[in-house]
Amino acid sequence: MNWPAEAIWEAVAPLWPGFTVEILPEIDSSNTELMRRARAGRGEPVLLVAERQTAGRGRLGRGWQSAPGASLTFSLALPLTPSDWSGLSLAVGVSVAENLHPAVRLKWPNDLWVGDRKLGGILIETASAGAGPRQAVIGIGINIEAPPAQGLSTPPAGLRELVADADGPQVLLRVLPPLVRDLLAFADAGFAGFHARFDARDALRDRAVALSDGTAGTAHGVGDDGALLVHTAAGLRAVASSEVSVRPALP
Ligand code: BTN
Repeated sequence: MNWPAEAIWEAVAPLWPGFTVEILPEIDSSNTELMRRARAGRGEPVLLVAERQTAGRGRLGRGWQSAPGASLTFSLALPLTPSDWSGLSLAVGVSVAENLHPAVRLKWPNDLWVGDRKLGGILIETASAGAGPRQAVIGIGINIEAPPAQGLSTPPAGLRELVADADGPQVLLRVLPPLVRDLLAFADAGFAGFHARFDARDALRDRAVALSDGTAGTAHGVGDDGALLVHTAAGLRAVASSEVSVRPALP
């Protein structure tokens, strides 16, 4: 595949001195690889694109399946020093969704959705080695072609449903430079600048949701810290991203 490594490097290197782009034909997981490097003290900013992942990882210990050519899988490692990390994963979702297509929405905390089907996911991990800044590893997987639905409760979506000629290299060039700019803005000013943008794409707003602990409620947007606000029988509850998973309740 013909990856726009140079164009991305030219757009990003002025913003992140020392930035490099690597395209790998195969790796276990681009996130795992960048976490290994970060823990080994290699803190340089890098974009790692994996054409094939043999052990792709999702949130909450799940796997992430993707097929070469039918998906875009990459991770970005950046030494970030925000004063407040809360809302980072939502900010990443907002940035990517805005640059994919107007119809792409966000299912809190940061799944990319088309209708009620999953188009992509984001896995953010952080590592620190020694006294340097904490390194954020931001992994993103986007279905270019919808993968098979086996074993999933809802069939996934593919970007080609919205953009007929979409391919991985072209999508990467669209989302990556604005993502880096948004990450710099986040490091400066936190989630505040992303709050209204998240609201505009919030797929759960005013919908019935079921928390993984069994609580039922109605989603009511997010707080200034990115927590999901849910009206429950016991009152308004703020759900932190690590606490529960949320699914729209059946109508
Ligand atoms: C999720 O929805 O659970 C998150 C999925 C994240 C997948 C991407 S693909 C590139 C990067 N490498 C991984 O192993 N995972 C992330």
